Amino acid sequence: MPQTYNPQLGREQSYPYEHREEERDWHWGMVINTNRCINCNTCSFACKSTWTSGEGEEYMWWMNVETEPYGGYPMGWDMRLLDDLGPDETIFEAAEDGEQVRGYVAEKEEWEYPALGDDQSHGEYPTGEVVESDPHEEQYHDMWQFYLPRLCNHCKNPACLAACPRQAIYKREEDGIVLLDQERCRGYRRCVKGCPYHKPMYNPETGISEKPVGCFPRIEDGNVPRCVSSCIGKTRLHGNINRGPDAGHPGGVSSAADGRSPINYLVKSDEKIALPLYPQFGTRPQVFYMPPYHVPPEFLTQMFTPNVEEKRNDWPGSTYEESVKIVQQRARDPSHHVLGILQLFGATTRLIETYNVKENRVKGWDRKGKKVVDMPIEEPMEVREGEQWTNQ
Ligand code: SF4
Ligand code: F3S
Repeated sequence: MPQTYNPQLGREQSYPYEHREEERDWHWGMVINTNRCINCNTCSFACKSTWTSGEGEEYMWWMNVETEPYGGYPMGWDMRLLDDLGPDETIFEAAEDGEQVRGYVAEKEEWEYPALGDDQSHGEYPTGEVVESDPHEEQYHDMWQFYLPRLCNHCKNPACLAACPRQAIYKREEDGIVLLDQERCRGYRRCVKGCPYHKPMYNPETGISEKPVGCFPRIEDGNVPRCVSSCIGKTRLHGNINRGPDAGHPGGVSSAADGRSPINYLVKSDEKIALPLYPQFGTRPQVFYMPPYHVPPEFLTQMFTPNVEEKRNDWPGSTYEESVKIVQQRARDPSHHVLGILQLFGATTRLIETYNVKENRVKGWDRKGKKVVDMPIEEPMEVREGEQWTNQ
C-alpha cells in the first residue's frame, strides 16, 4: 500500500490512494467546543429534517450527540474497533487479507438506541460530605459526563472511500467534501463497515448506501452547515481548515483580515486548543474538539490523542496526557486572541473565511471578502453606585 504522511500521528502510514491534501486551497473543517454543548440535539434534528427524513432512513442520524463515557451510536462503536487494533496501528494497517480497511458491521439492535447512555455520569461523590474545591488546584471532577456531537469528519484519508470496491465514493476537488455517488453504488456496504465513525448507512428501501454530505449546497452559497447555524449553544465554528498563516489575501479578501482562517488558528497554531477524535484510526478526521476541562485527562488522552505516550514535537506537553492537560487549561482560561475567536462561534450563518483580533474587537470576512462579523470581545461592565438590594 502507498505511504502518506499523517501529521495527526507524526508518522508515515499506509493508505490505498496517493493524494496531496495539503495542496488544496480549501478544505472543509469544523471546531466544536464541548464545554458549550448542552445535549439539546437541535443539530441532530436540523440535520435529520434536512437530509434523512425519507423512507428507509429511519435510523439514519448523520448528526448525533452522545453522552460520554457511556453513550455511543451505534452502541460501543469506538471501543469495539479500538480493541481490534494493535499498538500504534491504524485501521488501514490492521486490514484483514483481501480488505483495504479494518472495520466491523454493527448489528441491527446496535442501531436501535441513538440516545443510549444519555445523561449517565461516571463516578460518584461520597454522600453526606461537603465537596470543597481549591480554586488554585486543577479541578477535575470525580463524577463527570460530557456531550460529544458526532458527524462525518470529511477525512483527509477517508476510510469509506478506501473501502468501496466500486469507487463510488470520492472527495471533491474544490472543498474536500466526501460524497457517495448513488448512481455508481451497488450496495456492497464496505463503506458502512469501513468508516470507523460509522457515518455511511445502508438504505434497505433503495438497496444502496448514503453518507453525510457536509451540507455542500450551503457551503457553495457561502453559508455554514445546518448543524452549525442551528446550534443554540454556539458550540461550533466551520470553515477552511487549510487556510494557514501564509495564505495571503486571494479573492479580494480585505487586507484588514489576517489571512488565516479562525479554525486553522484553533487547530494548528502554537495555541492549539482543538483536537481530532480518535486520530489513531488514521483517517485524519477534520472535525476538531475543544475538550471538556472538568473531565479527568486520562480519559481524554485515549479519545483525543493517538494513545501512545511518546512526546511529539508539535504537541505542547512532554506526554500526550500532559498535552491534554495544557489544552484543557487553555480552554478553561483562554487567551485574549482565542476569546476573540470564541466570539465568532454562532455569530453569523455566513461562512467566515478570515478574521482578525485587534484590541477589544474581533472581525470576520466571508469568502468574497465581505465583512460579516464586527463585535467587541469583552462587553463593558457597568457597576451601579450606591446601596445594593440584598435578600434580607
Ligand atoms: Fe468517510 Fe467516515 Fe471519514 Fe466521513 S468520517 S469521510 S464517512 S471515513
Ligand atoms: Fe461502495 Fe458503499 Fe456503495 S462500498 S458500492 S458506496 S454501499
